[in-house]
Amino acid sequence: MGITELWLLLLSIMLATSAAAVDQQTYIIHMDATKMATTNPEQWYTSIIHSINQLSSINDDQNEASNAAEILYIYKTAISGFSAKLSTRKLHSLSKLPGFLAATPDKLLQLHTTHTPQFLGLQRGHGLWNASNLASDIIIGVIDTGIWPEHISFQDKGLPPVPKKWKGTCQAGPKFSRSNCNKKLVGARAYIKGYETILGRLNTTGTFRSARDSDGHGTHTASTAAGNIVYKASLYNQGMGAATGMRFTSRIAAYKVCWPEGCASTDILAAIDRAVVDGVDVLSLSLGGGDGFFYQDEIAIAAFGAVRNGVFVSCSAGNSGPFMSTVGNVAPWIMTVAASYTDRTFPGSVKLGNGQIFEGSSLHSGNSIGELPLVYNKTAGGEEASVCTAGSLVPSMVKGKIVVCERGTNSRFEKGEQVKLAGGVGMILINTQLEGEELFGDSHVLPAINLGASAGKAIINYIASSKHPPKASILFEGTRYGSRAPRMAAFSSRGPSFFEPYVIKPDITAPGVNILAAWPPVVSPSELKSDKRRVLFNIISGTSMSCPHVSGIAALLKSAHKNWSPAAIKSALMTTAYVNDNKRSLISDVGRPSGGPADPYAFGSGHVDPEKAVDPGLVYDIVPQDYLNYLCSLNYTSKQVGLVSRGNFSCPSKRTVLQPGDLNYPSFSVSMKNKAKNVRFKRTVTNVGTPSSDYTVKINNPSGIRVSVKPEKLSFRRSGQKLSYQVSFVALGKREGLSDFSFGSLVWVSGKYSVRSPIAVNWE
Ligand SMILES: *[C@@H]1O[C@H](CO)[C@@H](O)[C@H](O)[C@H]1NC(C)=O
Ligand SMILES: *[C@@H]1O[C@H](CO)[C@@H](O)[C@H](O)[C@H]1NC(C)=O
Ligand SMILES: *[C@@H]1O[C@H](CO)[C@@H](O)[C@H](O)[C@H]1NC(C)=O
Ligand SMILES: *[C@@H]1O[C@H](CO)[C@@H](O)[C@H](O)[C@H]1NC(C)=O
Ligand SMILES: *[C@@H]1O[C@H](CO)[C@@H](O)[C@H](O)[C@H]1NC(C)=O
Repeated sequence: MGITELWLLLLSIMLATSAAAVDQQTYIIHMDATKMATTNPEQWYTSIIHSINQLSSINDDQNEASNAAEILYIYKTAISGFSAKLSTRKLHSLSKLPGFLAATPDKLLQLHTTHTPQFLGLQRGHGLWNASNLASDIIIGVIDTGIWPEHISFQDKGLPPVPKKWKGTCQAGPKFSRSNCNKKLVGARAYIKGYETILGRLNTTGTFRSARDSDGHGTHTASTAAGNIVYKASLYNQGMGAATGMRFTSRIAAYKVCWPEGCASTDILAAIDRAVVDGVDVLSLSLGGGDGFFYQDEIAIAAFGAVRNGVFVSCSAGNSGPFMSTVGNVAPWIMTVAASYTDRTFPGSVKLGNGQIFEGSSLHSGNSIGELPLVYNKTAGGEEASVCTAGSLVPSMVKGKIVVCERGTNSRFEKGEQVKLAGGVGMILINTQLEGEELFGDSHVLPAINLGASAGKAIINYIASSKHPPKASILFEGTRYGSRAPRMAAFSSRGPSFFEPYVIKPDITAPGVNILAAWPPVVSPSELKSDKRRVLFNIISGTSMSCPHVSGIAALLKSAHKNWSPAAIKSALMTTAYVNDNKRSLISDVGRPSGGPADPYAFGSGHVDPEKAVDPGLVYDIVPQDYLNYLCSLNYTSKQVGLVSRGNFSCPSKRTVLQPGDLNYPSFSVSMKNKAKNVRFKRTVTNVGTPSSDYTVKINNPSGIRVSVKPEKLSFRRSGQKLSYQVSFVALGKREGLSDFSFGSLVWVSGKYSVRSPIAVNWE
């Protein structure tokens, strides 16, 4: 489109727009670079702004004319577009132009990046992030791969002295001295005995036999929970903004239990045990396990000891979704965290020689790739060339071309490495049915893009059937905010748990996809040895990333409510979690065909909402003794229960008085197996909101079930008051036609409070 035509188009738009008050604001304007008329973006954007300004004067609109729009920056690599100060009226005109993609208001004074604080509604100076809340001393213990102590995220500038309650130490070892700890990183220890017992002495090539992190995982998780605010953090300009831990004034204690081949449960147990003694308030465990009965599960056992001592324990749910019953770390005293997407994406697209375009995800921040030959499988090499394993690609077939690699067999990064080694220019990484439409932002060693399974299928079809030599181009579009979110990650592990069928697991979901956080300088962002790049922050995904979000948020709640038990904090987080996304639909599940709605076996009670959780109205509290009685009700032997109670415990002789469903859990898992007709639970809620308040119950019946509550109204007259109710789940008539599970909710409502518990019914 020439300048004159652009101008005429604007004129017609402007004339049709009614006059509005001049309310100028800075916007980031995302433009479709392929629609550009000239080769010079500067010229294109300038002519657009110039035309818009001229129009106002022609329209004789004094207000508009005297506030001429002005370009602030032109973006060429991170995004294509520009930022400009515009009135809403001018923005409206601009939005009608060809090539316009989106406009997002500038958020200059707000924190961005890890971006998740903003996505979670945390704001500097307000609510949970107010000065008094952040000033109190909270120590978060991170059980992981150790830590990189010199990282800027762990500097202690401006922090008051180490709290007196801290009893831990800074354990010296190879490349780790006592002076590596400071007022931020208050302690560090390494546990390796169990590991070396299984695998023999650690081969220290490329690793450290101390708390120093040679992997990246522990540094990343620690900074997500409690890292300092670091401005202008990014991964090669992607996700640019302030990186910050959820509770960025917390102290960190690092317990290294994971080594190159894994983490021994004995070491984990020792670390948790020690952490409690050391004086941590919150424990964050982004590691696997828990796929067994509690008494075979060291994490569960150790976590009980921690909870009994008032420590909040949050664990990752696992990355084995979207398959059912894959959830781990399921003990009811643990907060089990699933993973979901935020509204930040790293979009890119592939255009095939036949004109088809597919949207995908890419962290590449350099130039786009113009049209090049496209090769795959037998046009790229020999056996296994379709999955790009080592040695499968033939350089003479790949050089200077774009290579399609399918997921599976080797890691996503290794595929990129192979394409680069063989001389490929770019990689299109396509999902199989197994990974579906899950899209990762990965920092590959060459320009690359990840596409979903349906796009993958279309590309393979195109290559197989094209009459002309197949070709493609790849467009990289930088960082974008405002996508539909949250959405459940397909990889996030699902319930119901075989081992803990009386509670819904996971408990909650939190951001865990494409999370930017601290990274050690000895590990490349792809974690490949051949990759010589070094970064201060890296973007990675997993329930390992969502768990420390909840750990940090729990620390925030703990400072706002010093006398709350771990169960009360957990209840507050769960009953205030939300289940609708930013487009007002039920949170969707990337693990479902065509991204259907997620259910409580994916997200538990829903997505964490920190500022709601600080004032939940009511909590379902649980004392440690209740957990032991619960285990008795499951018919575990006194000896088994003794594992968590430290021996000195015998189950009540009359076990029939105990019912597993009576554990005062903030969600309801109902078994209608064996033709059960009527299941009844008891719950007790504690008033932590308005002292005098009347709550009424609102029920959303699961299909095939009628839920009734007695009493239907709870009248509190003082703070701290406890009231009990009974809830009955009655199966209605025929079960035929019902799926294996049905879902509903029970909500106590009073004014601003809405205390929600999901209900999951298992008919199997
Ligand atoms: C800070 O926020 C917490 C939690 O929202 C609240 O309880 C407290 O009263 C606030 N303090 C101030 C000084 O605003
Ligand atoms: C330790 O690992 C390195 C690199 O993987 C290897 O070259 C070396 O032989 C190993 N040493 C021992 C004692 O196994
Ligand atoms: C790759 O090509 C080989 C040889 O033609 C063929 O046998 C195989 O099925 C192809 N693999 C895929 C995944 O298409
Ligand atoms: C525990 O044992 C009692 C008595 O045998 C039985 O009625 C009950 O159903 C059992 N509970 C569970 C959870 O298996
Ligand atoms: C065992 O429990 C009893 C009663 O609860 C208590 O008096 C006793 O001190 C406990 N013993 C130990 C070793 O914890």
